[in-house]
Amino acid sequence: MRLSILSGTANSGLAAAMAAVLSTAIKQREITRFPDGELGIVLHESVRGDDVYLVQPAGPPVNEHFVELLLLADACRRDGAARITAVMPYVAYARQDRRAGRSAVGGRLMADVLASAGVDGVVAVDVHTPAIEGFFSAPVEHLSAVPLLADRVRSGLPRDSVVVAPDLGAAKLAERYARILDLPVAFVHKRRIAATEVAVHQITGDVAGRAPLIVDDMISTGATIEAASNAVLAAGARPAITVAATHALLVGQAVEWLRGLGLRRLVVTDSVRLPVDAPLPLEVVSLDRLLAEAVERLHGAPSPGAVTTPG
Ligand code: R5P
Repeated sequence: MRLSILSGTANSGLAAAMAAVLSTAIKQREITRFPDGELGIVLHESVRGDDVYLVQPAGPPVNEHFVELLLLADACRRDGAARITAVMPYVAYARQDRRAGRSAVGGRLMADVLASAGVDGVVAVDVHTPAIEGFFSAPVEHLSAVPLLADRVRSGLPRDSVVVAPDLGAAKLAERYARILDLPVAFVHKRRIAATEVAVHQITGDVAGRAPLIVDDMISTGATIEAASNAVLAAGARPAITVAATHALLVGQAVEWLRGLGLRRLVVTDSVRLPVDAPLPLEVVSLDRLLAEAVERLHGAPSPGAVTTPG
């Protein structure tokens, strides 16, 4: 099967970098918007019989980018692609993994809709709820950026650092960072009051006199990082805060709020397109190689019966 890479508009820079690592050109397509807001997609090159990888993180605006991905998959399926893999460095709706009252379960619906559009496999990075892999009947290649981020953070990290989980959901993640960096760990007990408001009621672990390294899978509005930072500072931590997170969605007031914290470093990946010139001490670790290696692995292991030829 020939390898074909296409990209939506969500993060074409990352798609190009990934394709460059694979020494492959991105296939041409046209994405148009009709006057009523509908999107339309036309492929300018054939993908018939190909092993297709669609690079499209579902970052903000989430629904736009998700629909673009569905249309890309549909166009490839109708053109006769042999296999379609959605490379979604950021998977949206992963926080909707169960019913809350009479709510919808967005994670499950998203998985079903991707399958209907013709997606045969997913490549994802640090999904908020790894268990949503079970929502997909297609194989999910779940990658982690933690080793890359920890490696970047390591240089210049104060010796008296402590890894801080800003909520109990991030406890395992914090323990991973702590293991890699050989640091102690502390846990912030957070309660979400509203989408943009959280409250801290307790910290477990010793942060006094230490430099906090706050880690999370994602930063959306920044409310969680802001609350955790204020809580550890109030508990006597040194005002030398580093934050590491895989997905920097930075929506709403996030840039302003994070700026107000006077962070030392904010280390994130390029899973979603980042605001250029944000007045933040941003350090960006690219996922290009991690994703390219996953594509190489998957392309080298096509479904039984298929024939592999270099793309
Ligand atoms: C929550 O469980 C996640 O791990 C993040 O802490 C959260 O989604 C971040 O959102 P925000 O930046 O809006 O607080």
